[in-house]
Amino acid sequence: MAKQSKSIFSCAECGYISNKWLGRCPSCDGWNTFVEEEPVGEEMAVQCKRAASPAVLISELDLPEYIRMKTGMEELDRVLGGGLVAGSVVLLSGEPGIGKSTLLLQICETVSRHARVLYVSGEESKGQLKLRADRLGVKGEAIHLLTESCLESILGECESVAPNVIIVDSIQTVWSEGAHSAPGSVAQVRASAMAFISWAKQRGCSVLLVGHVNKEGGISGPKLLEHMVDAVLYFEGDRRHSYRMIRSIKNRYGSTNEIGVFEMGDVGLKEVPNPSQMMLDGRPENIGGNCACCVMEGSRPLISDIQALVTATAFPTPRRTADGFDYNRMCLLIAVLEKRLGLKFYTHDVYLNIAGGLRLDEPAADLAVAFALISGITDRIVPNDMILFGEIGLSGEVRAVSHVEYRVKEAARLGFKTIVLPKRSTVGLKAPKDVRIVGIGSIYEGLSLLERKLSAEDLSE
Ligand SMILES: Nc1ncnc2c1ncn2[C@@H]1O[C@H](COP(=O)(O)OP(=O)(O)O)[C@@H](O)[C@H]1O
Ligand SMILES: [Mg+2]
Repeated sequence: MAKQSKSIFSCAECGYISNKWLGRCPSCDGWNTFVEEEPVGEEMAVQCKRAASPAVLISELDLPEYIRMKTGMEELDRVLGGGLVAGSVVLLSGEPGIGKSTLLLQICETVSRHARVLYVSGEESKGQLKLRADRLGVKGEAIHLLTESCLESILGECESVAPNVIIVDSIQTVWSEGAHSAPGSVAQVRASAMAFISWAKQRGCSVLLVGHVNKEGGISGPKLLEHMVDAVLYFEGDRRHSYRMIRSIKNRYGSTNEIGVFEMGDVGLKEVPNPSQMMLDGRPENIGGNCACCVMEGSRPLISDIQALVTATAFPTPRRTADGFDYNRMCLLIAVLEKRLGLKFYTHDVYLNIAGGLRLDEPAADLAVAFALISGITDRIVPNDMILFGEIGLSGEVRAVSHVEYRVKEAARLGFKTIVLPKRSTVGLKAPKDVRIVGIGSIYEGLSLLERKLSAEDLSE
């Protein structure tokens, strides 16, 4: 007698499979993430058949020509690798309220000029969408709105509208009658995504899927969605700030090194073609604890302002916070400065902040962070026209970093006159006009570049 197939349970966060329900996932430690999945037959007989499209020799294939469509947002086009490719499926993910729906509705305006667009929303009513479109100034004649979350109905509507671009906001709200689990479950999201992917490939239309992100930053539910689609874009930024960044995590049609920068305003997202300038706007002058840094975001240099507030502590264990910078990395740099320079951080609280809501996770930011900290504790000023970048090792040595020419060029463009960088990176480097390049081998060497100590008069100015 054939064994009766039992239900299986899978984690909605990471896809871990178990034959019983678990409160906590042993793989990703998520709580209450297990959902029941449809039973799968254990003794599945496989029957061979001819594939619809048989195997061919690679040498016999013609080079395909990607048809790319401009989205009207230069910043987004660059991240996509030059525009939206016909027949591709792009997953746009981000935290709630970051601006995914706003961005997609905005690009509809340009896209609808040369393509038919179907915007499917499972989250908002037509009225809400109309209000938002009105606020964003989106009028496009060829934009069809559909408020539906049943997969079969959506595809039925796609059949009649025959769109060139389908936007699904969001994939987690779509459910299929064919899959018997709850909407948002792994099985549902997987089935819906598969249906859209095969639709895109068959009809040559582009599909943009919106994916929600959970608190930890993973795409909630199906991490496996990332493997299925052609491109994965993360929309990120600090919601308290107006800057937003689109980063490509995966792209089958372009580089993953690009970022797009936007600013959120009343009339939606505005592109920021010169983000370095924006980061430096309103930068305080001649204040201890401030230091400019040049980091690479993909192939793009970006100048940011690092601020360290170092104050004498009243606690036995000093407080340390890092906003926009890795906390452990900051602690490591503090330890290096304590050990190598004898600075007494253990009697001081340290609050580190990267202005503008930017997140720096490149080792090249080390040197500037260290100088912000030194400046913060000694009250010596890092001159306003000085910028630093370089990685710091545990012995206090300054290590070489990549893309030095780009960084120097960007710093010179924004008016920095002294650029401090790792000595090894200065080999063969030509200084731009009126710019002094200072190569340092260790943190001690740069200290003489700090200006006089802040006086009470400076602070009362
Ligand atoms: N009436 C409004 N006026 C100005 N800004 C708004 C308005 N409504 C929404 N926003 C901005 O748009 C953001 C929501 O964007 P949305 O595209 O809905 O995010 P997501 O789809 O990623 O959840 C809000 O966080 C807010 O900053
Ligand atoms: Mg939304």
